[in-house]
Amino acid sequence: MDVFKINGKNTLKGEVTLHGAKNSALPILAAALLVKGVTVIHNCPDLSDVRETLGILESFGCKVERNGNTVVIDASVVDGSEIDEHVMRLMRSSILFLGALLARNHSASIFLPGGCDIGSRPIDLHIKSLRALGAEIIENGSSINCTCRGMTGAKIILPFPSVGATENIIIASAISRGRTIIVNAAREPEICDLVQFLNSCGARIYGAGEGTVEIEGVSELHPSEHRIMPDRILASTYMSACAITGGNIIIHDVKPSSLTPVFPIFNEMGCRLYLRDDCLEISAPNRLKRVKMIKTMPYPGFPTDSQSPIAAALSVARGTSVIKENIFENRFRYISELNRFGCDIDINDRIAVINGVKHLKCANVYATDLRGGAALVVAALRAEGESTINQLEHIDRGYESLEKNLLLLGADIKRIKNEEEGKA
Ligand code: UD1
Repeated sequence: MDVFKINGKNTLKGEVTLHGAKNSALPILAAALLVKGVTVIHNCPDLSDVRETLGILESFGCKVERNGNTVVIDASVVDGSEIDEHVMRLMRSSILFLGALLARNHSASIFLPGGCDIGSRPIDLHIKSLRALGAEIIENGSSINCTCRGMTGAKIILPFPSVGATENIIIASAISRGRTIIVNAAREPEICDLVQFLNSCGARIYGAGEGTVEIEGVSELHPSEHRIMPDRILASTYMSACAITGGNIIIHDVKPSSLTPVFPIFNEMGCRLYLRDDCLEISAPNRLKRVKMIKTMPYPGFPTDSQSPIAAALSVARGTSVIKENIFENRFRYISELNRFGCDIDINDRIAVINGVKHLKCANVYATDLRGGAALVVAALRAEGESTINQLEHIDRGYESLEKNLLLLGADIKRIKNEEEGKA
């Protein structure tokens, strides 16, 4: 496996451009299965999760081509409806193909999904919702078999605004008979991006970004082009990296409205933020200030995915910060690795108490999950000496060329390929 070697203490300076949002690309690629023709997706990040998703589309008979960050999917013929167990276990978002396959092929067969190990991640809301839309679903130990005679509109009240369940309902009911209403729908910007794509293909979906979404089913979708929104979690990762090094960077292609939940936190840390259209400049003080309390919440609350890189930055703030994780039950697994840098962070169930320290020392650490892995990179940028970050496969799921971009910002970081490591 590849590792990152990072020599800390360089101050980040310079300019960087965000890539497209992983959490937007994955549902949009699943939704492309509904289009009997060619879909063109621009700004599609080249990430391992995206490559797996494109592989799933190919396994169904779609033709897929990538040219730079543009992906072309020809879903004129779809002749498969089963997802490989290995892929399902690797990537939880493959569950989004359930709704897409049911709408397109009226059948789907999948295994229980995996993904980042950040606590139990049930799929009961997906299953219940698809049943309400007319699917017959048989759960059989670790696999699920679904059939339907086409999706039929229904009113679905979600007990929790699950991002994935909202996306699955939207995708499944885009091609359906009748009208679907989702009450307590997730309001994340990535939901709006998915709906913008589907509507550009002729779907009739109203209210995305609000608590109630209405879908008037149509009989088919037509080919279209779409540009994936910029990745807001990547933006908060660069902001954390800049903050921990006391740097000054400009981030291009940001969608400011998607970042409003994190801006006040960086302001409270003492960072100055300047917005000009889609450019964000962040200037960090020498010593960050503590943040009294961060609570992760569904959008428009503070995003759980930004929790880890920001916790790393707060580890060197003056004073004590507190983070409460409300979305996932086990999202602090990376903290024990972070403490190897000399951070002083206590965990009590879903609460992290971060006692800011002045200095971090280098460490040999293991990424436990995607965003937790990013937190380790952020800490290593500040630590004295050379750190090693192992298990990059987690980080590669969601960050494209992270080391190249951090290098451009002045960090001393390199990826050591597995083979080179072996020779050393
Ligand atoms: C998506 C994002 C992930 C982000 C999360 C919350 C993608 C590919 N992933 O994940 O990066 O951290 O939103 O913003 O977009 N739940 C149930 N039953 C269900 C579904 C969810 O109990 O059927 C629970 C989960 O266990 C979790 C909470 O709801 O505690 C949030 O999950 P959800 O919003 O569905 O997140 P994902 O779609 O998996």
